[in-house]
Amino acid sequence: MSGGGPAAEAAANAATVEAPANIAFVKYWGARDLERAIPVNASISMTLRRCLSRTCVRVLGAGAPDRVLIAGEAGVRPAPAAFAARVCAHLARLRAWAERECGFEVVTRNSFPAGAGMASSASGFAALTLATVAALGRQIDGSEASRLARLSGSGSAARSVFGGYVQWPGGGDPEACVAEQIAPAEHWDLRDVVALVQSAPKAVASLEGHVRAPTSPHFERRQQLLADRLERVRRAIRERSLQLLGPVLEEDAIELHLIAMSSRPPIFYWRPATLRVLEAVRALRDRGVGAWMTMDAGANVHVICAPEDEPEVAEVLARTEGVVGIVRDGVGPGPRRVDVPVGAPFEEGEAMTGGSGR
Ligand code: DP6
Repeated sequence: MSGGGPAAEAAANAATVEAPANIAFVKYWGARDLERAIPVNASISMTLRRCLSRTCVRVLGAGAPDRVLIAGEAGVRPAPAAFAARVCAHLARLRAWAERECGFEVVTRNSFPAGAGMASSASGFAALTLATVAALGRQIDGSEASRLARLSGSGSAARSVFGGYVQWPGGGDPEACVAEQIAPAEHWDLRDVVALVQSAPKAVASLEGHVRAPTSPHFERRQQLLADRLERVRRAIRERSLQLLGPVLEEDAIELHLIAMSSRPPIFYWRPATLRVLEAVRALRDRGVGAWMTMDAGANVHVICAPEDEPEVAEVLARTEGVVGIVRDGVGPGPRRVDVPVGAPFEEGEAMTGGSGR
């Protein structure tokens, strides 16, 4: 949280929060209750540092309609209708939680391009939740922040309210379904180099993926394997062992896509360039570089590696055919309150740089 500014903002009933995206090592795939984002299985993720949503929420008078704006280079413009509708639905939940009748003005922007296929709901809904709560002058703990962020319907937002390494339990009691930090960012400096191979939004949203997941014959089998997989990931984090973590990462990502591809109807997120990136990652490992891939519900490939290998990994991925951009990120400390205009440059710059151009 920053210095003098927030006090001035509090007087104006406004707050600005930067919240990061996260990358799951063991994925949330399949919901017990989709609307409230109660997952079937537990997941573990690493919160990122540079892929941020920065959101300013201002409290308006009672009965004022909510306004949702996007800040960009050329100033502020109204958000697209579908996006604004999701934001307003969450504002309505937060209003009910706070027992207030006010409206809200939301101004938001990301440090990564919207159309790049990087999931922005986790960072976006974490930032929206935390900024709204702060603008209302309410103090909440991490568990309550995670629960409120989860109610947005973007389950992964429940993990983005914490920094470092985060676990989120599966199903059971909805009230108890909140994430917790298992290790802070300082515990283990891991990097995530993302090869962007797709600039169009993904064909099937994660929400629909969660619905279709149980129709795959591989869904149940994955549930049986997960207890051991989660334990191996926790141990890898505890021992800071990429050798332990890497194979589990790849196993779980491939299984998510196996389930997606064998759901009814099937979902194919992979693009031809996805396979080329996977080959490049394997070739890096054959040369002794500890680079391991994971993928969310999209065509992009996240490559997890140690800090000393990051430049080589980024260079190899950037010249792989079909890669349109690279994001160099790593583990980060989690959300923070800031005192800058939403349109101001990000401290570490925009997260994305160019790809092979082929
Ligand atoms: C594949 O329902 O949280 O990323 O709202 O689009 O972020 P978004 O999806 P959500 O499901 C996340 C699915 C996942 C795996 C994960 O992050 O655990």
